[in-house]
Amino acid sequence: MTRHPGPASDPAGPSSADGPGGVELISPFGGSLVDLIVHDPDERASLLERAQNLPVAPLSLRGQYDLEMLAVGAFSPLDRFMARSEYESVLYEMRLRSGHLFPIPLAVPCREEVLRGHPREIALSDEQGVILALLEVDEVYPADVLREMRAVLGGRDSAHPLVIEAKRWPSHYLAGRPRVFDLPRHRVHGPLCLTPTQTRARLAAMGHSTVVAFQTRNPMHRIHEELTKRALEAVGGTLLIHPAVGVTRPQDVGYALRVEAYEALVRNYYDPSTTLLSLMPLSMRFAGPREAVWHAIIRRNYGATHLIVGRDHAGPGPDSHGVPFYGPYDAQAMAEHYSDEIGVKTILARELAYLTDEDRYVDLNEVPYGARVSSISGTQVREEYLAKGRMLPEWFTRPEVAEILQRAYAQTGDATPGP
Ligand code: ADX
Repeated sequence: MTRHPGPASDPAGPSSADGPGGVELISPFGGSLVDLIVHDPDERASLLERAQNLPVAPLSLRGQYDLEMLAVGAFSPLDRFMARSEYESVLYEMRLRSGHLFPIPLAVPCREEVLRGHPREIALSDEQGVILALLEVDEVYPADVLREMRAVLGGRDSAHPLVIEAKRWPSHYLAGRPRVFDLPRHRVHGPLCLTPTQTRARLAAMGHSTVVAFQTRNPMHRIHEELTKRALEAVGGTLLIHPAVGVTRPQDVGYALRVEAYEALVRNYYDPSTTLLSLMPLSMRFAGPREAVWHAIIRRNYGATHLIVGRDHAGPGPDSHGVPFYGPYDAQAMAEHYSDEIGVKTILARELAYLTDEDRYVDLNEVPYGARVSSISGTQVREEYLAKGRMLPEWFTRPEVAEILQRAYAQTGDATPGP
């Protein structure tokens, strides 16, 4: 594992907004956290009444998660769904109108019939019709999703999970600043799902301004545990285990089980004085390099100074020709390139290998000549262990995690029920 030296001092300096009694954390990207939630009860009541009479654009689960992330400031300094010029700039320059780095576009997909009469305001609802926000519409523009995919993902291969999903998206995009009444009610995340402000308060109270974030969308096995513990040992401070629990690939392990597994792992194998587990309603794009840059920006907003970027970070698996979409270290290279500008140092984790006879993990390129190495692929997990009721070995995954995956498989015939 190499540690990127990073900037000598953080470009935006420490934040003073993390409350008394704790240390100062890194400031949010762009200086302050965006907050789009209507807190004043009178204003909320009158806006909500106005919203009842507006055309309604129902948001998919992904749209609801994106709204939530935007509303709580996780995408700061972005404070609105992007107008066309900003969207184009993000696609081709990876920058907001303000000049801030931002590699992933964000707008509200909307069906054409909602737009009849050219409404100036539109209510955003969940799939059951519960109104979540009032959007002042700045602009409406046609969604050219395949062009978007080519720019963001670097291709539009039919096996890419976002390409598959995007083909079903509505025809238009809405731009504008939402006033948010309620965070979506889909959540089973409960108290583990902290906003950037809440996360910062918890981290500040833990007493370290150095915060190492770990992004994941999978159950954490021993290899992930190794990566996080090595990273913490290298830089010190607090470890923020920060799984994305928004939309992932349909075949990924559903978030409820993942959360159960994260909790068991952290409870039994991590030092509570230096570890914070918190869930984030981020939906994956599987954009590899661009997504790693985005993850770093987002983690800065949650108070992190470092982000672990390992092998094939945010990679979608093989394309329709069986070839990986990205090189295994492409995401590291891009995160590293923008690290100084973001102010978040990348901890570049190389692939680890398990030395069977020595019962330990080492960097793949440090495996001694002739040493026996063990590994288990995702397919083998399903076919050779879960399907046959065999417990996964302890060198691969902790027994608590193995038991949860086994139980999930026994209940559903699959370890991967979606959210
Ligand atoms: S991701 O889509 O969130 O990146 P995943 O949950 O599998 O997927 O990975 C979480 C983090 O661990 C990423 O930074 C990833 O690069 C890293 N990682 C996962 N497996 C390995 C591995 N075998 N070697 C090195 N890094 C890994």
